[in-house]
Order: sequence, then structure tokens, then C-alpha cells
Amino acid sequence: MKLIMLDQLNQLEHEALDSLGQVKTAEDLAVWQGQYFGTKRTKGALDRTLAALGTLSKEERPAFGKRANEVKQSLVAALEVKQAAVKELDLEQMLKAGALDVTLPGTPIPQGRLHPSTQVLRRIIRIFAGMGFEVYRSPDVETDENNFELLNMPPEHPARDMWDTFYTTTPGVILRTHTSPGQIRVMRERCPKPIRVVLPGMVYRYEQVTARSEMQFNQVEGLAIGRNITLADLKGTMSEFARQMYGSDQKIRFRCSYFPFTEPSVEVDVYWGLETERDRMITKGTGWLEIAGAGMVHPKVLRNGGYDPAEWSGFAFGMGPERAAMRLYGINDIRYFWGNDLRFLEQF
Ligand code: FA5
Repeated sequence: MKLIMLDQLNQLEHEALDSLGQVKTAEDLAVWQGQYFGTKRTKGALDRTLAALGTLSKEERPAFGKRANEVKQSLVAALEVKQAAVKELDLEQMLKAGALDVTLPGTPIPQGRLHPSTQVLRRIIRIFAGMGFEVYRSPDVETDENNFELLNMPPEHPARDMWDTFYTTTPGVILRTHTSPGQIRVMRERCPKPIRVVLPGMVYRYEQVTARSEMQFNQVEGLAIGRNITLADLKGTMSEFARQMYGSDQKIRFRCSYFPFTEPSVEVDVYWGLETERDRMITKGTGWLEIAGAGMVHPKVLRNGGYDPAEWSGFAFGMGPERAAMRLYGINDIRYFWGNDLRFLEQF
């Protein structure tokens, strides 16, 4: 009995190692493993042979048990070697199938970048920061009072027509049409101290969109309040800005204008050129592109901000960064900024 059973064990080992030698894939290996070691549901050949242990006499058992253990260990060791070999083979085949050429250059990962408007906005802020202006943030959703009334435009004032307005469903609450309402906020907060701030942000106008005008664009407001501020300070500040932004060759001009919240008021133009039909359209036939409105803060506005106009004076300006960028980069249509065309955006 014992001899027969030991033979069975030897044969099992021989067969198992033999068939393991034929295994080439992970699937075949799983079948082999099931066949000899069993699965969750079925017993394997090894278990079935070991079950015969119970039929042996007490004396026969140790020798049979010892041999059975040796067979088991030899199969486990062979299985581990095969598992590693199959894994390597699988990888090799996968690489072959994918025809991976490690000498090829990698696929570049696209990198995000700042929108050209943001880039120009930051450049403008840096220039003014160099002249001692700090950044002050004020909200996009404003009251009619701050946007118009306290800027010397009571209800029905005809100058309100200069800013076509988006109203909200809440009475008296609008989307700011310019960054100037921030002047009131900062004056009321800082009064009675001198002020030198820039207020960047988005503004909204229910406006005809053209090559030079958008309905949503950025502005950078500037406000300086002090004891002896004059129009010469405004002109000097704007000229220095243009020099740093465009270089000393850039021609700029101050043109008389009107804003209810400044007196006197000017507009600041940079020279664009007047050669093509497009130049004519962008510059309204003048060759100059308006980049900012500005002026000396109106006494009524100073008073609304809490400053006594007999003691205090100040200048303010409101600049369009997209317009400034058009001049800087030679962009001949403002609609590119919000068109989301990657061919345009990727140039910056
Ligand atoms: C104003 O908005 C005044 N608040 C500016 C100001 C501030 C005057 C402080 C005096 C004191 P205006 O509407 O002109 O003014 O706009 C100012 C600048 O914003 C323009 O010079 C231009 O650069 C830019 N801008 C105006 N309208 C548009 C538009 N539709 N699209 C793009 N940029 C515009």
C-alpha cells in the first residue's frame, strides 16, 4: 500500500512539473494552479492524494507525510519561479504589442498660462506700484448710488447715458459700468488720510460690440488725494506710465473731455497710426487710441467721500487695460480678448 501511494506521489510531482514546463501564459498558469492546488470551490490533485493519508497505517504515515510535504514544497517553489517568468513574458509581449520606442521624445504636456488681459493688468499695476500706488479691491456688483449719484450724477442726469447699464432685479443694484464707484468706497474708508490707490477689475456695459469696444472689459481706476495735488501731477503720472508701458518714443496726448465726477476732465490717447482702413476704424479716423479718462476729482465727489475740498484735492483716472494691450501688442480687434480662440491666446 505504502509503495503504491509513494509512487502516486512521485508520479504526481513528475506530471505536475512536466505540465508546468509547458505553461506560457498567466491564464494557463491559473488552470495549472487550480488543477494541482485546487481553487476556492474545488480540491486539487495534491489534496486528493493527501486525503489518502487517512487510509494508511500509523507506521506508514510519517514516511508518506514527509514525502507529500517535499512534493508540495517542490511544486510551490516551481510555481513561484513560473509566476515570475510568466510576468516577465507578459510584460515583454505587452511592450512588443505596443511597439514602445523609449528613444522617442515624450508627448509635451500643455502648460496653462495667464490670459493676456491678466498679464497686461498685472503689468499696469506693477508700473503704478512703482509710483507708490497700492491695490484696492471693490465689488463688481454696485449700488446705483456709488456708481452714479455720489459721482455727481443724480437720477435723470443726462451724463448717465455715457454708460449703458446692466440693471439687476434688485432696485438700486447694478453691475458697475466703470471702476469709479470704488473711489467713493476708498475715500470713505481712508478719510481723512492721503490716498494713492489703483482699483483694477471688470466692468459691464450694455454696449454695441465693435473692434474697439466690448460689453465686458477691465478697467484700472487710479485715485490720488492729498493737500496739494494738481493737474500737473496727473499729467506727470500718466506720462510716466506711458513711458514705462510703451517706451519713451511713444507719443501720448491729453484731450479736453467731460466727466461729471472730475473738473477739469481729460482723455488720454496713445498714438496708433493711420495707414489702413482698420487703423481708421480703431482710432475713429484720428490715428489716436483713447486708453483712459481722467481729471481732477470734482469738489462734490471729494465731499461725498468725506474730504473738505477747501483743504484737499486729487486726481483720478480710469484706464482700459485691453485698449492699452491693443497698442502694446498691435492687436487690431478687442473681440479677440474674450473670443477664446487658442491661436490668439497661445501667442502670449
Ligand atoms: C470712464 O469709465 C470713467 N470712469 C473714467 C474716469 C475715471 C474718468 C476717473 C475720470 C476720472 P470711459 O467710459 O471713457 O470713462 O472709459 C475709460 C476707459 O475704459 C477708456 O478710455 C477705454 O480705455 C476703456 N473703455 C471704455 N469703453 C470700453 C469698451 N467698450 N471696451 C473696452 N474698453 C473700453
